[in-house]
Amino acid sequence: MTVSPALLKRLALPLIAAPMTGVSGEDLVIAACRNGVVGSFPTHNAPSVDELDRWLGRMSDELGADAAPIAPNLVVHPTNKRLDADLDRLVAHGVELVITSVGSPAPVMDRFHAAGCAVFADVATLRQAQKAIAAGVDGLVLLTAGAGGQTGQANPFAFVRAVREIFDGAIVAAGGIADGRAVLAAQVLGADLAYMGTQFIATRESLASREYRDALVRSTMDDVRLTSEVSGLPASLLAEWLDNRESAPVSAGDFREDRLTSSPDLWSAGHSVSGVRDIPDVATLIARISGQYAAAKAETRASLAS
Ligand SMILES: Cc1cc2nc3c(=O)[nH]c(=O)nc-3n(C[C@H](O)[C@H](O)[C@H](O)COP(=O)(O)O)c2cc1C
Repeated sequence: MTVSPALLKRLALPLIAAPMTGVSGEDLVIAACRNGVVGSFPTHNAPSVDELDRWLGRMSDELGADAAPIAPNLVVHPTNKRLDADLDRLVAHGVELVITSVGSPAPVMDRFHAAGCAVFADVATLRQAQKAIAAGVDGLVLLTAGAGGQTGQANPFAFVRAVREIFDGAIVAAGGIADGRAVLAAQVLGADLAYMGTQFIATRESLASREYRDALVRSTMDDVRLTSEVSGLPASLLAEWLDNRESAPVSAGDFREDRLTSSPDLWSAGHSVSGVRDIPDVATLIARISGQYAAAKAETRASLAS
């Protein structure tokens, strides 16, 4: 299966509000979808499987058929104890699109496809992309250098190009996308959609603490540090938080799903933090990105014509 054009038509912008541990909750997702942007959230942000059930019910009650789709994110690493139970709930609620992360999507593909649900997988290397394509994914989220949270280290120009050469499905560019101009740039590169995380942390609907959101406003890309010491995987974190953290460093490669859920107060941000200037509500942020996107399109057309 591929992503249906009807689904994409429900978008006001080619954009996904990226899933973020401790950040993306019900209100953020609903606001994103109401404003024409795919709203994603890790299923583990709902504190229990029953709560996930309630979240999904509320989302479907409050979002009409014309709203942008939700895209729950499932951590498919074998240490995720809720994997099967969360998957069952997503299927029971008839979710149209899921995004898998931290591991191969292969074990969950059949269940989702049998339920008519498209699967996007996030990948950080070409090798991971090849494996996900072989597993039959409908889309790939390319984690590039400087993305917030668990990041990739590939250059976006090179990564999108290399994947486009081998994949006809949807490509989502992730990392460094802070405004409407960057969303357009992702499309020019050959991506179908852009992924934006850090900008949505600094919104009124986000679950992030006030201190964390204020830290984003005062930070720039120079304040972002790459480290595997917190989750065991390379991640972008604010140096200010890292320098003051009390938890012991974790060895590189030693990832466990509960390392994500047990550090809800961690301050992560991508290089795109340089684009965070204030803490608007989600509707205002999306209206701003739409305006920048339209202006960048018009400017690009004019400069190509001259
Ligand atoms: C605080 C934070 C938490 C994140 N948690 C998750 C997560 O639970 N699952 C996931 O797939 N990606 C997670 N990510 C990665 C984002 O989905 C996305 O790839 C990233 O934010 C894109 O880069 P940007 O922040 O520069 O826009 C997280 C990112 C941040 C900043």
